[in-house]
Amino acid sequence: MEIRDLIDLGQLTQADTMQLLDMAQTVKNNPSYFIDHCHGNIMATLFYEPSTRTQMSFQAAMLRLGGKIIGFDNPGNSSVSKGESLKDTVKVVSNYCDIIVIRNPLEGAALAASLFSRCPVINAGDGGHLHPTQTLTDLVTLFFEKKRLEGLTVGLCGDNKNGRTVHSLAKSLSKYPGNRFVFISTPQLQAPAYILDAIKANGCEYETSQTLEGVIGDLDVLYMTRIQRERFSDAAEYTRQKGVFILDAAKMRHAKKDLTVMHPLPRVDEIAVDVDDDPRAAYFKQTEYGLYARMALIMNMLANKNAARPAVVQSTEPFVCTNDRCITKTETYLPKYFTPAPGGFLCGYCEHKAQ
Ligand code: NCD
Repeated sequence: MEIRDLIDLGQLTQADTMQLLDMAQTVKNNPSYFIDHCHGNIMATLFYEPSTRTQMSFQAAMLRLGGKIIGFDNPGNSSVSKGESLKDTVKVVSNYCDIIVIRNPLEGAALAASLFSRCPVINAGDGGHLHPTQTLTDLVTLFFEKKRLEGLTVGLCGDNKNGRTVHSLAKSLSKYPGNRFVFISTPQLQAPAYILDAIKANGCEYETSQTLEGVIGDLDVLYMTRIQRERFSDAAEYTRQKGVFILDAAKMRHAKKDLTVMHPLPRVDEIAVDVDDDPRAAYFKQTEYGLYARMALIMNMLANKNAARPAVVQSTEPFVCTNDRCITKTETYLPKYFTPAPGGFLCGYCEHKAQ
């Protein structure tokens, strides 16, 4: 693996991904073999947003590899509450550790952090944008449960607009031949254009549906997500959107015998508890697999920790990002960064349209 930072799983080649999946399998089969693999290394987890699984599985992964952990999960207890910029926090913390795992509510924050870090940075979720290590977990789950990453009809149901795990997973799986996507949501919570464009550009097909009942029988994989309450500016709109799609035992009767039901968790009410004991429910196993996925990733990234910091990119185009939740809106010192796309330019941090 040549990368220093993991911001978007798209940075990995298919060979890199396969290497990580194979390694996750090896770790699963023989975890005690790796007990001292990261001895002497420190991981900093900087969580500006709530997390149970991602933060704890990263910490458990590092501890199981013999490394140590530092960090915060309540920015109110750190100098962030005194007004410290992301740049300054990262410059300081990267003097103390060998690898940083960061979760931030602003989109593009992990890429921004990587520009100022002396050590590798892993994106553990940047707002509604991406969540590559959940996707790595999801790919490991498919690899273990389905034995393949291609030729799958994948239903993505719930908050396809704000669900960063949906965005990362659809982008990644569209790189494999024969995958088809069914986006199941209300019209208000459809997947963003940049995700649908990426699927098309990678040569995969997708359709949209407003019912789960009508499509569940076609699916090999059903990826359920909660409605992301914290990303709604209007509480009444959240109330209208929640509870629309609920997977329960009655709907499971119309699904294939070998359907795999996944969910990044936390679940609110979108999967009824009567599905939990169905052998097709993989969402609790998924959390175990995430540990092996992260152990494999940490070992690979630490092996490359002395790679050069990525060059700070500076675009000359006179654009601004149109996304209010982009990191460039608050961290105004960031270098201007725009990338050309078919319909114009995109923000290099959050991938939304630039104007
Ligand atoms: C997801 C996240 O944080 O994006 N959870 C996770 O990392 N396992 C999904 C969610 O919060 O809905």
